[in-house]
Amino acid sequence: MPTTLVTGGTGYIGSHVALALLEAGHEVVVVDDLSNSSPESLRRVSQLAGREAAFHEMSLLDRVGLTKVFASHEIDTVIHLAGLKAVGDSVADPLGYYEVNLGASMNLVRVMAEYGVFRLVFSSSATVYGEGISPFVETDVLGAANPYGRTKEIQEYLFRDVAASGSQWRIALLRYFNPVGAHASGRIGEDPIGKPNNLVPFVMQTAAGLHEQVTIHGDDYATIDGTGVRDYIHVVDLAAGHLAALGALDTHAGCRAWNLGSGVGSSVKQVIDAAERAVGQPIPHHVGPRRPGDIAEAVANASRANDELGWTTHRTLDDMVTDHWRWQQSNPQGYTD
Ligand code: UFG
Repeated sequence: MPTTLVTGGTGYIGSHVALALLEAGHEVVVVDDLSNSSPESLRRVSQLAGREAAFHEMSLLDRVGLTKVFASHEIDTVIHLAGLKAVGDSVADPLGYYEVNLGASMNLVRVMAEYGVFRLVFSSSATVYGEGISPFVETDVLGAANPYGRTKEIQEYLFRDVAASGSQWRIALLRYFNPVGAHASGRIGEDPIGKPNNLVPFVMQTAAGLHEQVTIHGDDYATIDGTGVRDYIHVVDLAAGHLAALGALDTHAGCRAWNLGSGVGSSVKQVIDAAERAVGQPIPHHVGPRRPGDIAEAVANASRANDELGWTTHRTLDDMVTDHWRWQQSNPQGYTD
């Protein structure tokens, strides 16, 4: 039975990854400092899977603590999702972002090597492509446009250099596009602290009456209807992408990047339309100015993941908003309910 360590495993993506691993028969060990998540997510994951994941509440900056985790479990692969991820906060506190995100990865690699663990799947982001031309291909030149994105980009370089230093390393860099939706049970989902910045959680909270209206950040982009286009991916499809990447580690030595997206773009207006269909009522919205730092379009070229990971998305935008709405309705206060 393989034992997989999931860092950040109580978070939005981490909880869905932990569930997929348990369902696939892995032993799962979760490390999370709970700075942006609740242990309740893992309790529900265990309920859904009918099996427990081991949990250590700990920061990856605590190298001694991390060593103890590796000493107490026979870990053979790490899925590294832990990190700070708010673009705005990273602009206000770049040093904090560099310290936490890079420090965590450096500690992790050190301890992995010490314990002879050389298989790693890393959560990178489409943000590493910066203001490049969409659809993005893995071979595009990188150029993240904010401190958060740069920590992802630098971590990618760090892992590439580590992989080049010894042939035993097998590292997958997964560049996520825009994860939305929730597990179909409505038991686990995204639980943003405070007012969400991201479109789908904000739209859903507005439908639930928590906000007056959605502001569309600009409708004068060169896109199908003038609003920003993104490649939304259902979080359950995204979790499946991690399992596919684990399989690819067996056949790909060294370090390799894969885009995890659908290859299909949806505009802000299309997302709101889909959400209104899912909710069954109009969701108040109006057009405001562009949001600084946004680009017109960010869509994946997903061919490499399709061909090499044998992975593709199965869930549509309607599935994403329907599942997100179920989660929102059953957990109006998130995990604090
Ligand atoms: N948008 C609105 N109104 C809102 C929120 C968003 O119109 O209230 C629009 C944005 O302008 C954009 C689209 O909805 O066109 C998606 O915005 P999100 O904030 O949901 O997602 P982003 O694409 O901006 O950000 C995501 C991740 C970041 C990552 C970034 C770049 O959330 O972590 O992609 O890859 F850095």
